[in-house]
Amino acid sequence: MDRCNFRCPYCMPKDTFHEHYKFLKPSERLSFAEIIRLTQLFVSHGVKKIRLTGGEPLLRPDLSELIGELTTLDGVEDVALTTNGVLLAKYAAELKASGLNRVTVSLDTLDPDVFAQMSGGFRGVEQVLEGIDAALNAGLAPIKINCVVQRGVNDHTVLDLIDRFRGTGVIVRFIEYMDVGNRNDWKRDRVVSSRDLLATIHARWPARAARHNYHGEVAERYVFEDGQGEIGFISSVSEPFCGSCTRARLSSEGSLYTCLFATEGTDLRTPLRAGKTDDELRDIIRNVWTARGDRYSELRAGLAAKEHPLKKIEMYYIGG
Ligand SMILES: C[S@@+](CC[C@H](N)C(=O)[O-])C[C@H]1O[C@@H](n2cnc3c(N)ncnc32)[C@H](O)[C@@H]1O
Ligand code: SF4
Repeated sequence: MDRCNFRCPYCMPKDTFHEHYKFLKPSERLSFAEIIRLTQLFVSHGVKKIRLTGGEPLLRPDLSELIGELTTLDGVEDVALTTNGVLLAKYAAELKASGLNRVTVSLDTLDPDVFAQMSGGFRGVEQVLEGIDAALNAGLAPIKINCVVQRGVNDHTVLDLIDRFRGTGVIVRFIEYMDVGNRNDWKRDRVVSSRDLLATIHARWPARAARHNYHGEVAERYVFEDGQGEIGFISSVSEPFCGSCTRARLSSEGSLYTCLFATEGTDLRTPLRAGKTDDELRDIIRNVWTARGDRYSELRAGLAAKEHPLKKIEMYYIGG
């Protein structure tokens, strides 16, 4: 879903994504049948895990129906959802019933004023916390929290966020503020490195590194020495992980991107709607994927020095 009910300045700044911004028309978005068909083609190439994101996926009408179909597809081992949590209390039980096992909720802070600043003026901490409780009650587990940390904005509230979830089984993960898209006015000095953040957290609650759960896991895991759970760090700025990235991204209108920082995608909707066969579509996907050489995050420092004019695709369009 390309639309969102928030306007987080680091993702969809209000001055660009204003009330007259032209989002996709429903007919431009892939239908559920088209998403299912493409998923089957990706699965035939070896994809096992699907994540629904956006924009805000819970704004897509009847999302549970799509999840129900995805979770029963042969070869799909895991279906995940990333949401800002505002509508989660409403849908948690329905999502679980449709076959969803777990959910990732974005929550940058518990401080209502900082929350409003980071969501583009919306109040909603209580709603998100209710959503997390509803998800726990529905049995959606494990719940992960995504927290983007920005120096001088929410870094002083990080310990409170951890304190709230220690011992509950909810895993808080800290994401370094990234230069996704071209509109979020990214500045390197606003990034709090995972290393610095870990030092602050460790001083309060000692934690030790844990092994990755699977190859290509983007978060570095740490477990608290006192047994009160784990936290994670996604360090795509300070420690790029391009070499182990296995994610393909499909936009709401059916363009395939091989990198979060891509400058262009491959339109799959046109050949799909033009009646191409499964084999023809599979070939297009294979050719894109095997030609993939993306390593933007590894090249970032050099590119930034030259102030390159790359026009990157925006985050809301291909999800986090
Ligand atoms: C683009 S959102 C889409 C799903 C949903 N709307 C949400 O916020 O969870 C997915 C994730 O990307 C993260 N994100 C967005 N812009 C970011 C940025 N500039 N740097 C780091 N993470 C970012 C969000 O915080 C969120 O956790
Ligand atoms: S991060 Fe998620 S909630 Fe915030 S504007 Fe982007 S898509 Fe919306």
